[in-house]
Amino acid sequence: MNTDSSHSWYILGAGAIGGLWAHTMQVWGLDITVLARDEGQHNLLQSQGLQLSQDKITHTSHPKSLFPGIGHATIHNLLVCTKTYATLSAIEPWRKLLNPKANIILLQNGMGTAQSLQTVWPQFNIYCATTSDGAWRKAPWQVIQAGTGSTQMGAFSTHLSPQKMPTQIERLITASQQQENTLTLHWHKDIHTPMWHKLAVNGVINALTAIYQITNGELIQHPKARPRLEQLCRETEDVMSRCHITPIPHGLLNHALRVLQQTADNKSSMLQDCLAGRPSEIDAINGFIIQQGSILHLPCAAHRQVCDELRQHYPTS
Ligand code: PAF
Repeated sequence: MNTDSSHSWYILGAGAIGGLWAHTMQVWGLDITVLARDEGQHNLLQSQGLQLSQDKITHTSHPKSLFPGIGHATIHNLLVCTKTYATLSAIEPWRKLLNPKANIILLQNGMGTAQSLQTVWPQFNIYCATTSDGAWRKAPWQVIQAGTGSTQMGAFSTHLSPQKMPTQIERLITASQQQENTLTLHWHKDIHTPMWHKLAVNGVINALTAIYQITNGELIQHPKARPRLEQLCRETEDVMSRCHITPIPHGLLNHALRVLQQTADNKSSMLQDCLAGRPSEIDAINGFIIQQGSILHLPCAAHRQVCDELRQHYPTS
């Protein structure tokens, strides 16, 4: 393991994706530290370890962790897996430890956070990642990997060259390629395209599954939700085309239906958040699409309707 601190990674966000990555990066032999929210979260991780279940086999790893107020490390590389709405407040306690030229990768659903981060702290090198890996959190530091996909990463900050993969990200990608049965990672020269494609899928699926409290598979034939899915697809493709985003091959509806079939038994992340009384990511998903639409004078009525209904059903969302 290389102990030069410029090679070390810090992971923020104790959810399913944060846990999956913390475990996997340790297996890759990288020096990683989990940034816990508080002392309780840190103590629990140190006592029970991080459990990841893959194909009914549970692996336990023991990553290092810090909580705000302890630790004098310099953070050169930060992977952020928090919910979008919590990003700035989650980074704030670690702000003083961040190297002024730190690499920050945002691995989250939704869009808008990278723009906010860049506005507040323009000096950081911001990268975005979008994944089709499926995971859910059974309990604190216990993660179930529900499906394997791939992760695309690319440069977001305007001062970065989208062509040039930084050394630290190249090391991650090399590590992922050298091992079998692990996370699959790719560098993407135009990260906005896969991010929009993922946003579009989340935008047409997640809110409907939460409003009707249905699994992904149930949405396919649902008499009320299915026509709304189709309307959301049309509106989203309109916004994407007016924003000059490369269209999804074979159309958004076909793509969404394929995702729904492949994840038929899953509860979407938004349904899980709403049922647990947590805030949802609706603002960074449907809210972002509405915001882009309104710049282009597109009403996005179906997106507005699902936002209103979700808030009526789940006041905490
Ligand atoms: O957010 C999610 O839950 C997933 O990305 C998906 C596949 C769109 C719905 O389960």
